[in-house]
Amino acid sequence: KKKGFIFDLDGVIVDTAKYHYLAWKKLANELGFEFTEEQNEMFKGVSRKRCLEILLDIGGIEATQKEFDTWMIEKNEDYLEYIEKMDASEILPDVPKVLEYLKAKKVPIALGSASKNAKPILEKVGLLPYFDNIVDGNSVSKAKPDPEVFLIAADKLGVMPKDCFVFEDAVAGIQAANNAEMTSIGIGDSDILAEADYNFKDFTEIDLDFIKKLLQLK
Ligand code: BG6
Ligand code: MG
Repeated sequence: KKKGFIFDLDGVIVDTAKYHYLAWKKLANELGFEFTEEQNEMFKGVSRKRCLEILLDIGGIEATQKEFDTWMIEKNEDYLEYIEKMDASEILPDVPKVLEYLKAKKVPIALGSASKNAKPILEKVGLLPYFDNIVDGNSVSKAKPDPEVFLIAADKLGVMPKDCFVFEDAVAGIQAANNAEMTSIGIGDSDILAEADYNFKDFTEIDLDFIKKLLQLK
């Protein structure tokens, strides 16, 4: 049966979580409160708008609509400054190894990300040509853990959801994949991503025999 692979972007392909964190932290500090890396865990896989809502909750700040919109823009402009400087050296270890293997086997590959900056980032690091389809924050209306982003990706790849494999680093992302009835592969802390079907610390732990085995599942 035809199989498809779907990759999350932030935290799976590139370590942009640190840039998101720095940009949110700057805004928090400007507004007069601290924002820790631990709190940043809650932001993974979550839309920009929702992140700002959570951030303002943390700071106990009630914003007018105008302030809210301004801060959304400000955070993104700071984030884009980091993105601007990205290159292939920021691709997480062994990600290209898996992409190459899938390409060689002619397995369709999609991106399934909440980010509205997904395409420029893939371009910057030179991985855009590997992706047959990009489904990102510009094309979905329901955020992870809603399965929408992955279901659209499967549809575009022409693969049944149950024959799709999803790489994710966020709890909401693993839940989205599970809600789509896809096979979820957690990248990161297996205690945090306990709901995943498979767990790996990072791609260096994934051996190509594992991918081969997935492709051979009935
Ligand atoms: C997700 C990140 O991939 O994209 C979140 O994990 C981020 O932290 C979300 O908030 C939206 O990203 P962007 O680039 O549209 O602000
Ligand atoms: Mg992610």
